[in-house]
Order: sequence, then structure tokens, then C-alpha cells
Amino acid sequence: MSQTKYLSISSQKGGVGKSTITTLIASYLHFTMPLKVAVVDCDYPQWTIENFRQDDLALLKKMPEKMAEFKALGKKAYAIIKCQVKDARQQLEDLEGAADLVLVDTPGTLNIAGLPELWRQLDYIFIPIEPDAATINSTLAYTDVLRHYTNKPDSSLQGFYCFWNKFVKNEKQTFFNQTEKIFQEEGVTLLGSRLEQSVAYRKSEVRSTMAPMRKEFYHLGIKSLLEEIQAIVFPVKEAASVAEKA
Ligand SMILES: Nc1ncnc2c1ncn2[C@@H]1O[C@H](COP(=O)(O)OP(=O)(O)OP(=O)(O)O)[C@@H](O)[C@H]1O
Ligand SMILES: [Mg+2]
Repeated sequence: MSQTKYLSISSQKGGVGKSTITTLIASYLHFTMPLKVAVVDCDYPQWTIENFRQDDLALLKKMPEKMAEFKALGKKAYAIIKCQVKDARQQLEDLEGAADLVLVDTPGTLNIAGLPELWRQLDYIFIPIEPDAATINSTLAYTDVLRHYTNKPDSSLQGFYCFWNKFVKNEKQTFFNQTEKIFQEEGVTLLGSRLEQSVAYRKSEVRSTMAPMRKEFYHLGIKSLLEEIQAIVFPVKEAASVAEKA
């Protein structure tokens, strides 16, 4: 069985937070856990996470105190490998055994050559959903497709899970409650964590590829999401063996 876990924060809807959340997860797990993380950025031609990294490196060069903070982490930055979806298969194979966790960032559309092959190589898919009807409908269509790849002999995909992003606490909860009921009826798992809508997530120092997120942002739902994802991807028995490696 593969030691390397492959996951993607994925959606067929653009702008729902895929790249931002992928970066937050990668930085947290790589810099604060005994895990070697790699990111495969196949969001061609945007390559958002690779661009994040270039911006972060420029910032570190300009600000010695940021560079000192990075050095104090005592760990090399994680690799960000950019490619197109059609070439991702090979990149993922090359990372087998070289990383504990590979996060794959994909474009916000399904109409791309190589995407079904990529789903088969992933262990888990996590789908951010925004509170609007178009996103909900497109997510249900996406999960219908993913079902065909889940727990099948020719596929590694073990599960897919949705979670709220850009959640507004003070908004009327009717829409959220109705959506949760529909998802339950459709047999689609919705995680309990809700990432709040916050300008913090737009800031480069919060979603840095060179530092873990700061604790002051944990309350915005991201820490709870990370814990839920970690429990799914690294269940207790495996988590213990990862800790032993440290
Ligand atoms: N919880 C949040 N609160 C506020 N803004 C957010 C949140 N999550 C993401 N954003 C913002 O939403 C925008 C889209 O995010 P991001 O680029 O991560 O989405 P994406 O799904 O990767 O988009 P694309 O489909 O273009 O690849 C960005 O400006 C990001 O900062
Ligand atoms: Mg993106």
C-alpha cells in the first residue's frame, strides 16, 4: 500500500478557495507536523500557488525579520511542482515515497484532459462550497461524477467530503440548514468545520507558503478543518507511526 497520501481541494466551481485552502493546509502540515509535504500545482495557466511562492520569496528577500522567522522553522520549504493536469499523473508517481502528503491544486473546471485519471490517483478529495445556489448545484453534479471513481478497483479514491467556505455567521441560517439537509439526502458528507468569510484569508502573510498560519487565525475555522482532514487522511494508527518517525 502507498505510504504517500494524495489529496486535492477541488471543485468544478471557480473562486471557491481551492488554492488558498490548499496553501493553508500545506503550510500547516509541513511546518508544524513531522510530515514532508509537496504541492503539485496543475492550475495551468494561473499556477496560483507557484505565484504565491514567488511573492513569498520576494517578501523574504525584502524583509530580513521574515527570513529569520522562516530559518527559525528549521525546515526546508515544501516543493511546489507546476504542471498541466495532463502531466500530473507522472508528477504524482514521481513523488511516491518521496513525500508523506501530496496536495494537488486543479483548475476550477472539469472539462480538462487528464482530470479523470488524476481523480483515480488521489486518495481523498475535499470540496469547498460557498453559500450560493449555483455552487451547491454544481457541487452536487460534481459529487455525482466522483461517485463513479470512489472505492472502485481501478481507482485509489476512498472518499470525497464537502465543507463550507466563506461562511457568514450572522447570516440567516435557513440556506445553510436547507443545503445540509439536501446533502444528507443525497448521501454527500459535509464536514462540521465552516471556514468563515474573512479578509484575513486574502492576506499574503496568512496564506504564506513559507510559514504556518498564525494561531490568531485558528478561530476562523481553519484549525478545525485541518483537524478533520488530518483525522480522515491520517487515521489514529497511522498518525502514531508518523509521530514516531519525528
Ligand atoms: N474564507 C474566505 N474568506 C474571504 N475570502 C476568501 C476565503 N477563501 C478564499 N477567499 C478569497 O477568494 C478568492 C478566490 O480564492 P482562491 O483563489 O483560493 O479560489 P480558487 O477556487 O482556487 O479559484 P480558481 O478557481 O480561480 O482557481 C481569493 O481572493 C481568496 O483570497
Ligand atoms: Mg485556484
